[in-house]
Amino acid sequence: MSRTYQIGVIPGDGTGPEVVAEGIKVLKAVSQRLGFSFQFQDYPFGGEYYLKTGETLPDEALSELEGLDAIYLGAIGHPEVKPGILEKGILLKLRFSLDLYINLRPVKLYPGIQCPLKNKGPEHIDFVVIRENTEGLYAGAGGFLKKGSPEEVAIQESINTRKGVERCIRYAFQFTRQRAKAKKLTLCGKTNVLTYAFDLWERVFHAVGQEYPDIQRDYGHVDAICMWMVKNPEWFDVIVTDNMFGDIITDLGAIIQGGMGIAAGGNINPEGTAMFEPIGGSAPKYTGKNMINPLAAIMAAQMMLLHLGEKDAALLVESAVVKTIQQHMKSMDAGKMGMGTKEVGDKVVQYILG
Ligand code: IPM
Ligand code: MN
Repeated sequence: MSRTYQIGVIPGDGTGPEVVAEGIKVLKAVSQRLGFSFQFQDYPFGGEYYLKTGETLPDEALSELEGLDAIYLGAIGHPEVKPGILEKGILLKLRFSLDLYINLRPVKLYPGIQCPLKNKGPEHIDFVVIRENTEGLYAGAGGFLKKGSPEEVAIQESINTRKGVERCIRYAFQFTRQRAKAKKLTLCGKTNVLTYAFDLWERVFHAVGQEYPDIQRDYGHVDAICMWMVKNPEWFDVIVTDNMFGDIITDLGAIIQGGMGIAAGGNINPEGTAMFEPIGGSAPKYTGKNMINPLAAIMAAQMMLLHLGEKDAALLVESAVVKTIQQHMKSMDAGKMGMGTKEVGDKVVQYILG
């Protein structure tokens, strides 16, 4: 019998619903073409819902989502909601509660996309960042002393557990082996200053690395890695790093692959569920204008297909996206694409079915 996947959909705020609609269109087309299917279950969470109900992500919904094959998220962020509430209440809550300990962010420049780096093309930019997604500075450890007084102290600690670091690093070695490209894994840290946290990371990296003699081990400090990502991005195959550094270097990664219009990511619990999202924000100023680039959301859907084991479908979507970019799009930026949000989605669908 044909396979059916249960997908929880959180379109979210701003342009989230518009781009998710295109991603779903693509998923429906490719599954129809290849003989499997999806059941989509919509969830209303986001800024509007919070303003109406005071709720971010209720526990009942969380346990429902946990039982699904995957989650597809548009964007979270509302101009009338104080920064931090929705991020912590929805996005980080999903990551932490569902223990989505891997944040997988491919940095790949597709042919036809303008790269901001001089003399760099698709042959130079094709690597993957694996960001630890449940610990580090994001764990929320710390607090204030004497808040509001001139003697005020604010402490924000980075939490790094042996278990958390090890499972992330092990996933990264495994991923590098399966990717079978340069078979090189770079640890991105700061061992010269953060001599506790990255001492642990470095020890675990080399200990786990013993089990992967086929994988070359490489190390770079985070500041130097930012520099090399601009100067020699072709050096990288897979990079593994902690939550905060991963957050920062993947924005740099996104811009060298063509920007937020194309960059996608997966939040994965290899033993449980996973959530896929375009990594850009809710872009309120483009909302409802058919101007935003849906390719990041479509590529998030493509990553979801890979995760579900639908490799042929993922390859078909990827090649349809490349054709759409090469034959029809002027830019990856909102409003400059030379076509609208829906029209980009239509082209991708056309290439999938054609
Ligand atoms: C990301 C985002 C989030 C993060 C924010 C919105 C909380 O920047 O997914 O990279 O910092 O992880
Ligand atoms: Mn970020």
